[in-house]
Amino acid sequence: MADTMQGLKRTHYCTDLSKENIGQTVVVAGWVQRNRDLGNLIFIDLRDRTGLVQLAFNDSTDREIFEKASGVRGEYVLMAQGVVRARESVNPDMKTGEIEIQVTDLRVLSKAATPPFEITDQTNVKEELRLKYRYLDLRRSEMQNAIIMRHKIVKVCRDYYDRNGFLEIETPMLIKSTPEGARDYLVPSRVHPGKFYALPQSPQQYKQLLMLSGFDRYMQIVRCFRDEDLRADRQPEFTQIDVEMSFVDEEDVMAVNEGFMKDVFHKILGVEIQTPFKRLTYDEAMTRYGSDKPDTRFGLELTDLSDLLGSCAFKVFAGALAEGGSVRAINVKGGAAHLSRKEIDKLTDFVKTYKAKGLAFTRYTQEGISSSFEKFLAPEEVEAIHQRMGLEAGDVLLVVADKNKVVFDSLGALRGELARRLGLITPGTYDLLWVTDFPLFEYDEEEGRYVAMHHPFTSPKLEDLDKLETDRAGARARAYDMVLNGTEVGGGSIRINDPDIQSRMFQALGFTEEEAQERFGFLINAFKYGAPPHGGMAYGLDRLVMLMLGKESIRDVIAFPKVQNASELMTSCPDVVDEKSLKELQIKIDLQKD
Ligand code: AMO
Ligand code: AMP
Repeated sequence: MADTMQGLKRTHYCTDLSKENIGQTVVVAGWVQRNRDLGNLIFIDLRDRTGLVQLAFNDSTDREIFEKASGVRGEYVLMAQGVVRARESVNPDMKTGEIEIQVTDLRVLSKAATPPFEITDQTNVKEELRLKYRYLDLRRSEMQNAIIMRHKIVKVCRDYYDRNGFLEIETPMLIKSTPEGARDYLVPSRVHPGKFYALPQSPQQYKQLLMLSGFDRYMQIVRCFRDEDLRADRQPEFTQIDVEMSFVDEEDVMAVNEGFMKDVFHKILGVEIQTPFKRLTYDEAMTRYGSDKPDTRFGLELTDLSDLLGSCAFKVFAGALAEGGSVRAINVKGGAAHLSRKEIDKLTDFVKTYKAKGLAFTRYTQEGISSSFEKFLAPEEVEAIHQRMGLEAGDVLLVVADKNKVVFDSLGALRGELARRLGLITPGTYDLLWVTDFPLFEYDEEEGRYVAMHHPFTSPKLEDLDKLETDRAGARARAYDMVLNGTEVGGGSIRINDPDIQSRMFQALGFTEEEAQERFGFLINAFKYGAPPHGGMAYGLDRLVMLMLGKESIRDVIAFPKVQNASELMTSCPDVVDEKSLKELQIKIDLQKD
């Protein structure tokens, strides 16, 4: 049977102890990191959430305790009382390396089976295994630190918005569908057979209604659910820092939120962020960087060559232009030394994953120019391209011709890939900016209609109001995204507070009056009873924490994340439910073959 804690109470976390405590009797508790049994001496490294401390047992240790210590294995849970003393051989790699605890009482509170992997930070264990035993994985100091830092970031956030007059108000989790553009997670109702709740993709409509209720500054740290394809920076359930304000315009929302970023970077990382942030319009971001979330820590900007190639003989270029696309290029300055033909082939495969059909190149080395496309062009065209691109010996031009979307997607992603390969990004640098003037609509090829680029409550630019009826492609929104190191960490907008404009918006989105009433009737109605001008934004908290801590994946900053196929490996969910539960819900499963 395991020992009890009776008579002992923890006095310190492991790494609270230092030379200051020498001579004191202390009690620590935690897990066994390792046990070194040297026969007449035993050293146990004990671990808690703060780190390690060494427990020492020797000739002067009570025999019974010495025997017990000798039987202790990795991950056993111990409580130990003892006297802090200076260590004979100081361990400079350990925070508590100058001291150890000479143990006088030892309790084995729980034994442990051999874990499926060793609990250390030098782990090359597969992520699947780590996630299956997440509770063990979370014992590693790297994970502990990430979770602790996340807590600290959340604390700074709550304090910042509180200081600035924001109220945290909870909104429901079982709701009517919110149109953020992803698929909803649905929850069947037992009481209303055949009806479903949706889990919120965001609290968007509720926070707007709170503005109507007069809570003019709201923020909430809130879980959101989106059934969409996962990536390294996406989870089906994730956390937003959700903010909304009344009687404001874009400048007010941006200023308050720049203040938050300044505060959190200062307090958490000691990094001073310059405000106001840089701003780029959506058009500028796309034409210069091929992305609406550009990383501007390095150059490699895009250059449009279309006007030089209008009548060129190269079918690839001429064809793209004839179909309304473009030809754009990046000059990788000094790139010839790093980008061999073979490397360029790899980059070609890379851009193909973004639907580009190829990657044309010119490589200018000491030996001269080699190019995959110049032979198809007239000498004046080649000359004009070199001129515009500022081509010099040592440079590599990389060119994509296609529909604009493909050109931007592929060259935008290629910029990032090149920066990584060429080491153009200094670690520990933070590049914050706003992208503004987003299009109000985007054309959804699959649905064959215009959809809201942000959401249907986003206000059009006042000067673009007429375009709701006349030029949907050209209408711009009062929307803004906050971008950190090439990731969208947040986004928001000034909302529509005029019921007439809202109904024109629904019309522009192709909803009939009845459909709009059916889906958003409560909101349309609410706006009749006095709606202040309002706007706000939401941050992806997981992404913010990931970027601040320099992690590769948001799974590294979430205690219990889901994997690519949206399942949770530890509990194996989603899972089937029993017949009785389905019956209560009056639901029959009718699985399609394959
Ligand atoms: P949006 O849809 O842009 O805006 O979401 C806000 C921020 O949430 C983060 N995010 C995600 N993070 C992890 N996994 C996901 N699946 C995921 N989806 C989004 C992003 C994003 O910038 N209601 C509006 C905000 C507003 O208008 O106030 C909204 O939800 O960092
Ligand atoms: P090809 O004549 O098909 O061998 O193409 C000549 C060069 O143009 C090769 O380097 C291809 O990778 C490149 N290429 C093909 N399609 C495109 C495209 N859409 N955009 C840019 N380069 C392309």
